[in-house]
Amino acid sequence: MPKNIILDLDTGIDDALALAYALGSEELNLIGVTATYGNVLVGDGARNDLALLELFGRPDVPVYLGEPHALAKDDFEVLEISAFIHGKNGIGEAEVPDAAAGVQEQSAVDFLIESVERYGDDLVIVPTGAMTNIATAMQRSEAFARNAHIVFMGGALSVPGNVSPWAEANINQDPEAADYMVRHGRDVTMIGLDVTLQTLLTYKETGAWRELGTPQATLLADATDYYIRAYDTVAPHLGGCGLHDPLAVAVAVDPSLVQLLPINLKVDTEGATRGRTIGDETRLNEEEKTSRVAVAVDVERFLEEFMARLSRVARGEAVGA
Ligand code: BDR
Ligand code: CA
Repeated sequence: MPKNIILDLDTGIDDALALAYALGSEELNLIGVTATYGNVLVGDGARNDLALLELFGRPDVPVYLGEPHALAKDDFEVLEISAFIHGKNGIGEAEVPDAAAGVQEQSAVDFLIESVERYGDDLVIVPTGAMTNIATAMQRSEAFARNAHIVFMGGALSVPGNVSPWAEANINQDPEAADYMVRHGRDVTMIGLDVTLQTLLTYKETGAWRELGTPQATLLADATDYYIRAYDTVAPHLGGCGLHDPLAVAVAVDPSLVQLLPINLKVDTEGATRGRTIGDETRLNEEEKTSRVAVAVDVERFLEEFMARLSRVARGEAVGA
């Protein structure tokens, strides 16, 4: 039986790769995409989700509009660095036509709450942008906080952040939301920079997609080449682009790809370390650990899985297409 999954995306080039990873996975049943903000405005993210789902042959997957800004703010503007890494349109200025379908009437937060009520342990939620939708669902529904199984991309435990020495981009968008999520969630897995900066893609792999010549492959190659070029500028020592968001989906499919440290997490919300993910000293001696943080990854096996699944989508053979 495939596992039900909801992706909460700020699409975003690596979010697009995460979407493709899910659509290339026979083990997963994508029941919906909830849009958040970060790499792009929430509306632009939803637009990209709909367009990509149509391109990948799955226009039946519903997309829900999420919260437009952080809990403690009343608006949101895309950071210059985000636009540099993902392009103004979020997908590296690659062109994909608007989808025929629009977003659902139901809000992302209501859909998240209802889905956990309905599927319980048969659902995993993978947030890969700002954690605002997830925290809002937890604030509105204690049952959601108690029962949701979450694998999120964000944070950095053993390495510095990528927007400041302390903060990773997704956590930095809304530290209060991320803090609420890790303090109130009962099953939260963190896939942070500790592992995602070890999983890199290069022009060699995008070249293989390009040779397939399908519209799906061309879009994936164009967007990812833009992302690799941005990484070549901001982090040339890496020699490729970080597969942040797809790794979170991969771990939702197969947790044995990473080594997990059980821990009670918190997020600093004050002072210079605002946005830092770290152990909560007030829960250090509690027996129950509500989070797990990935501290090591089987890079070779993940990259094999990634290429197998992405190539399936690139050939126009997404699961259920
Ligand atoms: C995370 O930030 C976003 O820019 C990426 O899509 C990824 O989710 C990496 O820090
Ligand atoms: Ca993202």
